Amino acid sequence: MRRVPAPLPSRAYDVLVGRGCLAGLGTALMRRCPGGKTVVCCDENVAALYLEQVRSSLRASGYEVSHIVIPAGEAQKDLARAEELYGVLYDRGLRRGDTVVALGGGVIGDLAGFVAATYQRGVRLAQVPTTLLAQVDAAVGGKVAVDFRAGKNYVGTFYQPWLVYIDLATLETLPVRELHSGAAEVAKYALLDGGELLGRVERLARGRLVAARVSETLVAACVARKVAVVAGDEREETGARAVLNLGHTVGHAVEAATGFSRYAHGEAVGLGLRASLWLSRRLCGMDARDEARGQALLDGLGLPRRLEAVPAAAVCELTHRDKKAGRDGVGYVLLDGLGSPRLNVRVPAELEREAVEWLLQR
Ligand SMILES: NC(=O)c1ccc[n+]([C@@H]2O[C@H](COP(=O)([O-])OP(=O)(O)OC[C@H]3O[C@@H](n4cnc5c(N)ncnc54)[C@H](O)[C@@H]3O)[C@@H](O)[C@H]2O)c1
Ligand SMILES: [Zn+2]
Repeated sequence: MRRVPAPLPSRAYDVLVGRGCLAGLGTALMRRCPGGKTVVCCDENVAALYLEQVRSSLRASGYEVSHIVIPAGEAQKDLARAEELYGVLYDRGLRRGDTVVALGGGVIGDLAGFVAATYQRGVRLAQVPTTLLAQVDAAVGGKVAVDFRAGKNYVGTFYQPWLVYIDLATLETLPVRELHSGAAEVAKYALLDGGELLGRVERLARGRLVAARVSETLVAACVARKVAVVAGDEREETGARAVLNLGHTVGHAVEAATGFSRYAHGEAVGLGLRASLWLSRRLCGMDARDEARGQALLDGLGLPRRLEAVPAAAVCELTHRDKKAGRDGVGYVLLDGLGSPRLNVRVPAELEREAVEWLLQR
């Protein structure tokens, strides 16, 4: 089992990464959040697979355990569902020293995390992510939120967990499309790293992407990279955390332009990463070999090669509505070269349009 320390200003915690370690959750949690009650929050899919194992591990360590199961899907991540969760915590008499355990993908992590952050101004929180996306990204870094009207993650806060506990064996049951989608975030870290992690992800991309090939070392390296960025800008104030937005400006616009239904988040981010590489070559002097190497990595990870049937104008219009856009438009994260990100690049509207056209026509 790997331990990645996350020494963040508001809380220092461990991210533990293992394979087949779910039964050890209770022991690991007891060391960090001794005693009390736990409420495990998960969706129906994850409940059928892992809830019993998690409950018995927590019970065996001496916790009083209850749970709540909600339907799966992004539509659950709203204030109404949050209120229902508050109700469960209230009925179970949860107090500050007790722990909410978010067992599942990013939807559960964000929703249960938001509830833990706000209930009684904050009860303890353990993240037990079961999708690749949540393991390398959503569960780490402390962003918790629900969606509000058309705004994704519009109501939320920063709230670090007490523990992130990752069992890679849970990826074995993940639908293959979700695995590929999570791989887009892995590719993002690889492009930002440009060194050992890039090499490791390139090796992964050379064979078929199956859960068994996702190693503890790989996931721990992705987590460490995210932690390093977040440690320098925990609340997104200095701008340094924006580097994690690589590929996401176009990615989010693609998701929105296609009604959040056609592409999984990671698939859209994959397209966004392709556009970023294309723009990096034209605006930041990235050399052609680096661009080709980046595109090949995304091919190998099974991410979409092209954008299908969306007007380029619709995508471009939406990049400017990005939550992270400033008053004078959106600053892109691009790359001078693999491993050398450049923040806040202003992309001329014409070139942005060309990049999206390229995605549509390639
Ligand atoms: N907080 C952050 O920093 C952050 C970062 C990235 C994404 N997010 C959020 O994460 C969410 C997306 O997360 P996601 O992609 O994990 O989606 P998700 O939570 O909806 O999970 C995807 C699907 O996989 C199922 N599932 C989960 N684990 C499984 C397993 N081990 N076996 C079988 N099925 C399993 C779920 O039931 C669901 O149907 C979005 O809401 C996004 O906003 C948050
Ligand atoms: Zn993402």
